[in-house]
Amino acid sequence: MKLIITPDAASATHVAAHLLADTIRQRPDAVLGLATGRTMEGVYAALADIHRAEALSFSGIASFNLDEYVGLPPSDPRSYRHYMQTHLFDHVDADERHIHVPNGIAADLKTECAAYEAAIRTHGGISLQLLGIGDTGHIGFNEPPSPFDTRTRVVELDAATRQQNAEMFGGDPDAVPSEAITMGVGTILDAKRLLMVATGPAKADIVAAALEGPITPDVSASAIRLHGDVVVVLDEASAGAL
Ligand code: GLP
Repeated sequence: MKLIITPDAASATHVAAHLLADTIRQRPDAVLGLATGRTMEGVYAALADIHRAEALSFSGIASFNLDEYVGLPPSDPRSYRHYMQTHLFDHVDADERHIHVPNGIAADLKTECAAYEAAIRTHGGISLQLLGIGDTGHIGFNEPPSPFDTRTRVVELDAATRQQNAEMFGGDPDAVPSEAITMGVGTILDAKRLLMVATGPAKADIVAAALEGPITPDVSASAIRLHGDVVVVLDEASAGAL
């Protein structure tokens, strides 16, 4: 595992954006695994800057997002599909036909999950998977315990996660959907390279548990240590308990 610790959140997200940009430069048809959450807003803003400043084209890439809330249509401002549009895709030249986010309003969610797994395979697998970490130690929405061989599926969200993500839902955790579709831990571990980013003091304890505690389904993020090609980018605050 390669660990990069930067002085502050802005520099951490900047470093992560440059690693993503390098992947696209090396392989213009890269398959990017993308993530959402507040941490990633800085990553995507920096990536959009690189696109503009260095004429980095996204036209050949394909993308697969980690997760989506069940019950929210892509047009809902609180959906992750909408998040991706406003934070990244409105600012770069990605081909909409190659953007994939699980469909949280599919009539048959089980079929949607199987089709998502199949689509990742058809694209030859994920070149680089971007990951944040939730307060429960989740990657994607793999709430504990999530066995390391899990695949894309519907999960029930923890009360702590609904609390963490309530800001987008008027501050009311009960307004946060109770279920989500998420890539499994096994799906994530299949990516050729993993890039985890965390910032801020609130993440320090869970980052330490994930990187230095037992490797266990009780902390989904600890699974990344089983992967042979992982980069973790932290600011000093989130690295504070290491
Ligand atoms: C959500 C996403 C996760 C993300 C987490 C962290 O729960 N499903 O993929 O890692 O948020 O979010 P934040 O960056 O806002 O702390």
